Amino acid sequence: GATREPLDPVRFLSNRSSGKMGFAIAGAAARRGAEVTLVAGFTTAEPPPGVTLVRAESADAMLRACEMHFAACDIFLASAAVADYAPEVVAPQKIKKPTQTERAAQDADDGLTLRLRRTPDIVATLAARKQPGQVIVGFAAETEDLTANAARKLAAKRLDLIVANDVTQEGAGFDSDTNVVTLLWPDGRAEAWPRLPKSEVAARLLDALLALPLI
Ligand code: PMT
Repeated sequence: GATREPLDPVRFLSNRSSGKMGFAIAGAAARRGAEVTLVAGFTTAEPPPGVTLVRAESADAMLRACEMHFAACDIFLASAAVADYAPEVVAPQKIKKPTQTERAAQDADDGLTLRLRRTPDIVATLAARKQPGQVIVGFAAETEDLTANAARKLAAKRLDLIVANDVTQEGAGFDSDTNVVTLLWPDGRAEAWPRLPKSEVAARLLDALLALPLI
């Protein structure tokens, strides 16, 4: 799902992720008998049965939650849409518009400038701590140059597999019940799948994981 990065007590920066893709993977793994810990941000989808659900609102909170469970996991799948940037300062009270008199006195325009800080990269942080036998799978949500951008993320984040997701396609990406993805492996192999229900993408992804060599 989506992380929410607070601006003040009532506002946040977020994205369109529903959690459907991640929940489909977690549900499929649980049905196959895996012990699943599902770390989820904000979602509109219904969590699957048979998993341990851990909620994490922001990127920082999601990193802390994932760090707590990472050492015990064999396979870490990162399908969450984690914010890359968060407001540098979280206002303790609701941010107010200046009054007309204040605006005139400041001689400024009507805009509000936000300064953002980089959030931690969760999957890259954990991949750097990977132990032999652990497998790490990332996703890449792209709006252009799908395979080049996803291949760059696969290498930079030191992943065992990346699921490249062209989120501009009809029936793919955010909040859709179907997805269109291309799997990329570190040895340069690529496999493009047709549009499939997210449940089927999840099932095929788990099959692809069974074929990965354990490092
Ligand atoms: O939830 P749905 O509505 O079903 O939509 C599914 C989806 C579009 C969210 C999903 O299929 C998808 O593409 N997920 C990845 C979204 C994303 O944030 O991609 P990215 O290219 O920005 O990030 C690359 C990888 O790094 C991802 O595995 C992401 O989880 C991870 N990441 C990113 C930023 C960050 N600070 N920490 C991370 O771990």
